[in-house]
Amino acid sequence: MNVLDSEMIVSGLLRSGMEPTHDRRDADVILFNTCSIRQHAEDKVYSALGRLKRWKSLRPHGVIGVLGCMAQKDQKTIFQRAPHVDLVLGPGQLDLLPETIHRLLDQKVQEQETRHELHVSLKRLENRHVDVAGSFRFFDLRRSIEARTNRHQALVRIMFGCDKFCTYCIVPSVRGPEQSRPPVEILEEVRYLVDQGVVEITFIGQTVNSYRHQNGERITRLSDLLYQASEIDGLRRIRFVTNYPTGMKEDLLTAVRDLPKVGKHLHVPAQSGSDTVLKRMKRNYSAAEYRELVDRIYDTIPGAAITSDFIVGFCGETDEEFQATADLVRDGRFKNSFIFKYSERPGTKSAALFHDDVPEDVKKRRNQELLEIQDAVSRAANRGFIGQEVEILVEGISKQYDSGGIQLSGRTSCDRIVVFDAEHEKSVGQFRTLKIYDTAPFTLFGKETSENSSDEPRSGAAVHE
Ligand code: 5AD
Ligand code: SF4
Repeated sequence: MNVLDSEMIVSGLLRSGMEPTHDRRDADVILFNTCSIRQHAEDKVYSALGRLKRWKSLRPHGVIGVLGCMAQKDQKTIFQRAPHVDLVLGPGQLDLLPETIHRLLDQKVQEQETRHELHVSLKRLENRHVDVAGSFRFFDLRRSIEARTNRHQALVRIMFGCDKFCTYCIVPSVRGPEQSRPPVEILEEVRYLVDQGVVEITFIGQTVNSYRHQNGERITRLSDLLYQASEIDGLRRIRFVTNYPTGMKEDLLTAVRDLPKVGKHLHVPAQSGSDTVLKRMKRNYSAAEYRELVDRIYDTIPGAAITSDFIVGFCGETDEEFQATADLVRDGRFKNSFIFKYSERPGTKSAALFHDDVPEDVKKRRNQELLEIQDAVSRAANRGFIGQEVEILVEGISKQYDSGGIQLSGRTSCDRIVVFDAEHEKSVGQFRTLKIYDTAPFTLFGKETSENSSDEPRSGAAVHE
């Protein structure tokens, strides 16, 4: 979400006549697009802001802005902790950014306090749902190609916000209520991007598979959107993240199976393998139900890869509860897992109801243990690829050799990274068939085969599947 927001921020600023610079001494404006998901991310922003005091003292006319989720969460506190910040702007107000910056730049130098501009959305729970939803404003159709650093791949937001309220999570309060964008608008954006040379689109949403848009009698679900986007000529691959486990319905799994352009990879965070922890997290499924889903995905979609997220050290997590998670990581055959140590977020249900009582060293140990289990699982799965042919979409250069030549990297339909040696980068943005000769936990190493005379995909799935 933040990667896309940053692209849109840059897009708005370029359009308003600003230029990027790599040297802060040349800058008139410094912006932080922030994340609130864990404490650590916020600490980094506050210390970076602290380091800008001198920059600001030398340029009282300069603008320092804090944008995104931390702005929505901390609001005025940011000015209290860092008075040299000029602008605090939430993720639902990003459309206001260019005009606000220009207003600040045009101001005559004055008292720092009177410069403070705060633009955030309404707080959930304190306001009517419709007003809160309306206060998260979006402007995705206003993205422009100049702001894009990746020519062949693009993110497309299909929904905003989240209504799940998992007890540990800050997202529902900083990103607002769930709202699905109209399919016509989404498809228009995809067509625009494809016209600019994009070949892979990733639909994004905090719970992307909750996407549901109703227009009169007509209901569009994520699966319908996948069918509609598949019709777009020139679009080669479609992905989507992040899925909520209970929303993995039959129609979605069959769409992924049947549509050649849709990547055979599903990111479905489990968070824990223990029923009691899942209950405290308010995840609305049991470990057995999640395991059943994993089996259903592998049974329905041949060659599918599943990835997951886990939180270790959630409030009250016992050794036994943690072992249930370790068992799930052992059994789940995940391609990879993202593992996080629980970080208490003020304003969430778990911060109000439970104690963050698992000591840091235990969190660290559990984190390490899960990583090791997943590492062994990933290694073993990747070794199975040796000798196989896979089809990849080439994404870019991964290494430049001193002796000349380059190493390119790309991904299979099931989202495995493959690197291979090439003489030039002409194949970036194209499909290539490679034979795998070596593997690491997160990478396959391949060699080009003679299949590569044509630029057309032979199928949407990796060849071995
Ligand atoms: N502490 C640690 N990890 C968290 N996540 C969300 N909230 C927290 C938190 N308070 C993790 C979840 C989610 C991922 C994006 O971040 O695993 O899936
Ligand atoms: Fe957070 Fe849960 Fe929503 Fe994911 S589904 S964004 S973890 S509240």
